[in-house]
Amino acid sequence: MSSNHLDTLYRQVIMDHYKNPRNKGVLEDGSLTINMNNPTCGDRIQLTMNVEGEVVTDARFEGEGCSISMSSASMMTQAVKGKKIEEALKLADIFSSMMLGNDYDEEDIDLGDIEALQGVAKFPARIKCATLAWKAMEKGLKEEESEE
Ligand code: FES
Repeated sequence: MSSNHLDTLYRQVIMDHYKNPRNKGVLEDGSLTINMNNPTCGDRIQLTMNVEGEVVTDARFEGEGCSISMSSASMMTQAVKGKKIEEALKLADIFSSMMLGNDYDEEDIDLGDIEALQGVAKFPARIKCATLAWKAMEKGLKEEESEE
């Protein structure tokens, strides 16, 4: 596929998640609630997750932000559901590497729609938008891990 076609496809995936966000809302009985904002623009996210044993059984998000931040939150919640804490944190590491434009090891994990965000690495001002939800997830799960 040409890079133009790929860009168009990626843009469509991002807009689909923005317009039809997956896992939007609040888990009333969630075991973790993380609020985080993007200091550069003030946009915010509230992430609620349910963790049972080592597994993230559910994740929802609420918030206000640009298409990149909201679509990234939608993709992140979709990706972490059903994953072990360790796997979700590894995914967060892979996503950080992707945003830094570094090589990442995708052998063990299927990135699915998340790959659509890789172009954000070329726009440094938008990286904080894309990583907002991921930082929230990482913070919550690291706290959960340290409490065990
Ligand atoms: Fe605020 Fe993207 S401009 S999160």
